[in-house]
This record gives sequence, structure tokens and C-alpha cells, in this order.
Amino acid sequence: MLEARGLSRRYVLGEEIWAVREVDLALAAGELVVVAGPSGCGKTTLLSLLGAMERPTAGEVYLQGRAYSRLGPWGQALLRRRHIGFVFQRFHLIDHLKAWENVALPLRMAGVRGGAARRRALELLESVGLGRRALHLPGELSGGEQQRVAVARALANRPLVVLADEPTGNLDAASGRAVAALFDSLRREGTAFLVVTHHRDTFLPYATRVLEMRDGRVYGPTYPGPEVIE
Ligand SMILES: Nc1ncnc2c1ncn2[C@@H]1O[C@H](COP(=O)(O)OP(=O)(O)O)[C@@H](O)[C@H]1O
Ligand SMILES: [Mg+2]
Repeated sequence: MLEARGLSRRYVLGEEIWAVREVDLALAAGELVVVAGPSGCGKTTLLSLLGAMERPTAGEVYLQGRAYSRLGPWGQALLRRRHIGFVFQRFHLIDHLKAWENVALPLRMAGVRGGAARRRALELLESVGLGRRALHLPGELSGGEQQRVAVARALANRPLVVLADEPTGNLDAASGRAVAALFDSLRREGTAFLVVTHHRDTFLPYATRVLEMRDGRVYGPTYPGPEVIE
């Protein structure tokens, strides 16, 4: 469903850093792949490339066989909006919108009407245990609560692929497990998840594959096993 070939990203800021080096990686429907690695190994950069948030220095990403580089910026924005759910490490919630409005925003942008978008946003907040925080602004929520709003928002449009950057980094163990279990239930319905984290334990029981990232490279079974049904 999502595939990267020879994916590389170089930053030049005084010195030259290859944040991602020649990564081959494929993700099939119904997988939950965990990429674990230490801080600074390139996890966020890898997700940004896979989510068409950044352009690779070399290599290519394909979603359902279509190369990102052929889509142009407008096509890439559309693809992100329709098919990719992104959970950012730093949440990126909109401060002046209430929790439910943040979750409803991608729905509204996809053309869902107000009432229906509100109902779905409230349902999603309920599913991450935040039904009673729907009317709060991000600034009135704890870090963990904001993270769960960000998770709900990423799931709003029923994306094909969810790319999650340390999605439980700010959560206590119980909320972390709840998010992992929610991902697992959606995975069983066919959503593909790529979760990057520097503490993998929360997702380990639910992972269909675990990869290691070190110094920009990904190690382990980079292609789905035969048991995965596309
Ligand atoms: N915008 C940027 N400009 C320059 N260097 C960057 C930029 N983003 C990340 N890097 C560098 O790339 C490497 C990988 O960063 P990152 O992908 O954020 O790692 P991780 O998410 O695993 O902590 C680090 O050495 C980081 O300093
Ligand atoms: Mg990071």
C-alpha cells in the first residue's frame, strides 16, 4: 500500500547530515509496523518523507503504486488530506479551536457537513477517552490529553495509512495502552499503521512487525510477511 525505495534525506546546516539513508520499506493494509530507534536516528524525518510533508533528497515513495514526486505539491496536499493520518510528535493542534473542532477540521476540509463532522469528532474523542473534554481548548488540556486529541484528528478521515510519531510519548501507561488498542482495532479493519517510537514496549503486543532504525538506516524485515492480506 505504501512503499519507499532508496529513500534518503540530507540536511546541510554547516555540516552535512544524512537523516535518512537509502531506506526501502513497504507497508501493507492491516499492518502495524513499529520502527524503534534512539532520539536523532531519523524517525521523524522518515515519517515526514512517507507522509509527503518533506521531499526526499533521493528515492521515491509510492502510495497505492502512485509516485509522490509525480503528483506535485497540490496533489501531495490532497493525498495527505484524503489518505494519510499524521500524529505529530508535537501535536500541532490549533490553539483557538476546541478539542472537537480540531478533530472535525479535517472532516470539514474533506467536505463533511457541520452536524455530521461534529458527531464523528465527538465519537472519536470518546474512543480516545476524551468525551468529556470536547469543549476544551488545547491550552486547557494536559500534554497527554492533547496527544489523544491529535490521535483522534489523525483518524478522522478514515485514512488508508496512519503515520504516528511517538504517539504515546506523553501518555501514562494506561492511556498509552488504550491508544495502542485503538490502533489495533482499526488495523484489523485494514488501516495500515507505522508507529515510530524510542520506547517500543507499549506497541510491542500489537505490532505485526518491528524494525530498528539507527543512524538513518532501517534494519529488519522491511517487507510484509506472506501472512498479510493486501
Ligand atoms: N530541518 C532540519 N535541518 C537540519 N537537520 C535536521 C532537520 N531535521 C532533523 N535534522 C537532523 O536529522 C537527524 C534526524 O532527526 P529526526 O528525524 O528528528 O530524528 P528522531 O525523530 O529519530 O529523533 C538529527 O541529526 C537532526 O538533528
Ligand atoms: Mg522525532
